[in-house]
Amino acid sequence: MIPARYGASRFPGKLMQDLGGKPVIVRTYEAAKATNLFDEVYIVTDSDVIFTEIELHGGKAIMSKKDHDCGSDRIAEAVENMDVDIVVNVQGDEPFTSKEGLEQVLSVFEGEDADKIDLASLMTEMHDWKEISDPNSVKVIVNKENFALYFSRSPIPYPRDKNADVQYYKHKGIYAFRKQALMDFYHLPMRTLEAAEKIECIRYLEYGKNIKMAISNTQGIEIDTPEDLIRANKALKEDKDISVNNKYRNFPMVPKVVFGKGCFDQLSSILAPQRKNKAPFIFLVDDAFENDHPLIDRINIRFNDKLLFVSVKEEPTTVQVDQIVKDIKSEFNYKPSGIIGIGGGSILDLAKAVSIMLTNKGSAADYQGWDLVKKKAVYHVGIPTISGTGAEVSRTTVLSGPERKLGINSDYTPFDQVILDPDLTIGVPKNQWFFTGMDCFIHCVESLNGTFLNAFSESYGEKAYDLCNEIFLSDDLSEVDSRGKLMMASWHGGMSIAYSQVGIAHAMSYGISYVLGTKHGVGNCIVFDHLGDYYPEGVALFKKMVEKYQIEIPQGICKDCTDKEIDIMIDIALSLVPLWENALGEEWESVMTREKLKGMYLKM
Ligand SMILES: [Fe+2]
Repeated sequence: MIPARYGASRFPGKLMQDLGGKPVIVRTYEAAKATNLFDEVYIVTDSDVIFTEIELHGGKAIMSKKDHDCGSDRIAEAVENMDVDIVVNVQGDEPFTSKEGLEQVLSVFEGEDADKIDLASLMTEMHDWKEISDPNSVKVIVNKENFALYFSRSPIPYPRDKNADVQYYKHKGIYAFRKQALMDFYHLPMRTLEAAEKIECIRYLEYGKNIKMAISNTQGIEIDTPEDLIRANKALKEDKDISVNNKYRNFPMVPKVVFGKGCFDQLSSILAPQRKNKAPFIFLVDDAFENDHPLIDRINIRFNDKLLFVSVKEEPTTVQVDQIVKDIKSEFNYKPSGIIGIGGGSILDLAKAVSIMLTNKGSAADYQGWDLVKKKAVYHVGIPTISGTGAEVSRTTVLSGPERKLGINSDYTPFDQVILDPDLTIGVPKNQWFFTGMDCFIHCVESLNGTFLNAFSESYGEKAYDLCNEIFLSDDLSEVDSRGKLMMASWHGGMSIAYSQVGIAHAMSYGISYVLGTKHGVGNCIVFDHLGDYYPEGVALFKKMVEKYQIEIPQGICKDCTDKEIDIMIDIALSLVPLWENALGEEWESVMTREKLKGMYLKM
């Protein structure tokens, strides 16, 4: 619930001020909605103007009937007759409300002491004495479990001992209430401490309620003054991503990995501690291993564990993920102990997506994008049997959905465990080995030639690039060494793009896969073959490799496509903005037009 009063004493009408082309309150509404943390988001307002504006933007607004002293009263009136469990109060003048902060404040209701909590709120560390002593910023002190002891406009504690090691906290006006606590507040009269400090949450303390404080150090901008608005408009222009606070990515890496010839046999002992009672392990295996393949005998199937052979002739789809999840749910009463993917990039992506969708509601298509996954996935293990895609290490799981081909990119996507056994790649047909290996090579070229390049990506990318050169162009590498090295090249290539991006070959290849179902590695090669203008050195080496292994790169696959199909390819490719930005810089749109793309596709 976002309380929105039109008249603010310090900056009247501030919620309707323009912020990057939309009123502040609309920005706040959209930011809250975009977190995907809530079942519903409402603006609660006393103003027709705000009400109409929100409805006009397709949002939901409620008119509050009465005059209220504070935002909590306003939302209490609105939820009085709603069937709700937890109500979160987001400040209307915080258009950069971060998902991280809201997540923090909600997460306290999942902790061990959740029963004791009447409401939760946020605090952020303060270091500047000028701010600490400013009565406009409300300070909070907490006990050792982070329950609030008191809020004040005075500096608390008072630093009599200047050397005492004290952390000051600023209170941020985001609350998550149990409905009862909110209703109590609404009906309880104000007492003296609240009246003196003019801080509404003191009322809870005065009536003995427990306020649990969560810490969030994400910086947003509150719009309190016209100067704030200027600052916010500037911030919006400079950094479109301020609302998700991801200027520097903070991403998880695979926590456990085992490497070495034959290490696959450790699988049973790795899984054993993860087994939960009657909950099975589900093995998603490439159907190339069906029909008595020796690998299958080495999987120790126990109790009600299940082996599912999956065809990956085409790129994995959201429909396929939804179907597998539905099948698992209808067969077992228990959530599986884990999902184990054994195969190439498609199988690994399926395993990641299935493990996510076993704990998150709806369709996999709902989660295509960045950070849309709400709940931790079930334990999942990746075991590549072909190297190059980097799927074993990436934070994404690329799927073709009803509207787009896009990854489910989230902190919950990466595997909990990866098993890298180079022997598993024995017997991969030459073409497949080549196309998948080239995926890795192209990751490196695109990362190393991108504008997003940094020391992190470069160090991984250069290593993988060198390994690829050795594997695909040198003559004195044993097969055993080559397999192990390609496995590590794939890993490093994946790590390199984790902190930068891929580029033109991937953007265009996504379009081809979406329309024609072409496998990722093949699509990349088809495109990359024509990108000599953009990646001259990489493409020259690529052509050498193609020649050395006498690989036939499919030609002319787009020439019979209808205008509509080409249009869709172009739409898909152009929608991948970060890839283009990485490849061609911020002004990429002036370089890569639809016409130009069309011409390039028609040649492929
Ligand atoms: Fe790729």
